[in-house]
Amino acid sequence: MAHSGIREIANEAVRRPGTIRLDVGQPDFPTPQHVKDAGKRAIDENKTFYTHTQGLLSLREKLVDKLARVNGIASSPERIASAPGGVGAIAAMFAAVLEGGDEVLLPDPGWPNYRMMLPWLGARGVYYPCPPASGFQPDLEALEHLITPRTRILVVNSPNNPTGAVYPTATIGAMIQLAQRHNLWLLSDECYDQIVLDGTWTSPAHLAPDDPRIATAFTFSKTYSMTGWRLGYLTGSGELIDTMTKVLESNSSCVSTITQVAAEAALVGPQDCVTDMVTSYRRRRDLVVDILKEAELLIAEPSGAFYIMVDVSPAGLPSRDFAFTFLRERGVSVAPGTAFGEVAGGAVRISLASSDSDLRAGVGRLAEFVHGRT
Ligand SMILES: Cc1ncc(COP(=O)(O)O)c(C=O)c1O
Repeated sequence: MAHSGIREIANEAVRRPGTIRLDVGQPDFPTPQHVKDAGKRAIDENKTFYTHTQGLLSLREKLVDKLARVNGIASSPERIASAPGGVGAIAAMFAAVLEGGDEVLLPDPGWPNYRMMLPWLGARGVYYPCPPASGFQPDLEALEHLITPRTRILVVNSPNNPTGAVYPTATIGAMIQLAQRHNLWLLSDECYDQIVLDGTWTSPAHLAPDDPRIATAFTFSKTYSMTGWRLGYLTGSGELIDTMTKVLESNSSCVSTITQVAAEAALVGPQDCVTDMVTSYRRRRDLVVDILKEAELLIAEPSGAFYIMVDVSPAGLPSRDFAFTFLRERGVSVAPGTAFGEVAGGAVRISLASSDSDLRAGVGRLAEFVHGRT
């Protein structure tokens, strides 16, 4: 199993002080003050012991309200499991459902961690293309052809990392039907649910509320800029959550109680911190899109999450070599498309979780560098 191709470039960037970091996949804002204060109070009030494996009941009750308000999903405290980040929730779902030899349909390009979770379950990823030419929307025909008797789970990630694509309701509907036709689980990774830059997005669990094989994963990391606090959660059928709870009991017991208390403050506190961050991502997206359009390197305008893919194929280098050469020669780090699969091998990912001035300078240098090599 290989290390993440994003970490590889990040490790090199850390060794080069003064690098403009456009490779980082986490918000560049501090955690909101009222959330930090709640975490500090939790320590002083001795809320420092184990909780229920699925999370504090009071947290899960607030999550039920959030799921109804934001996602249009009807859930209940028994049907929610908290986990160490969205990554922990997704890994526990995989462990609850998969057996050795099973196959999981994953988006290409896609978040590398999915594929890294599978070898330790003896399962394997099969990649469905979301090609640049279609604005990184999934090719549903190709997807259906990849299904075999061993396929167990279809993973859907909208808004998407690394492309920023948000799938229309009709596409989500078609993916649900496809999963139902082939008797598959559908895992919807909605870790960027509240980072929507244009229009709206639809949750599969909202469209098919009675399907017990739809599971939906979320996180506090992105919405509230809480990546280091480590809290994600998943909602699904009672049976799935019960099995996942056994997995989580065996490998993490519960999420830090301090984090859970702080997360409750995030849910019930003012939400303008979320809208302010989204407004910044939208402004930065527009800024980068303008530079890329001018340089003729834009593939598609992202509508969600905080990433944009840039076409570097005119430079004539595989994207990993491109990223390392660009970093060494021009002092800017970007994530190579090959870190996310094969389909985006001619592109690199830029994170909009960077300051406006870094984006202006870094993307400007990128455009010069690509064209300087042609
Ligand atoms: C697509 C996607 N899903 C899930 C996660 C999980 O994030 P966390 O474990 O911090 O909640 C990430 C983080 O980068 C992501 O990009």
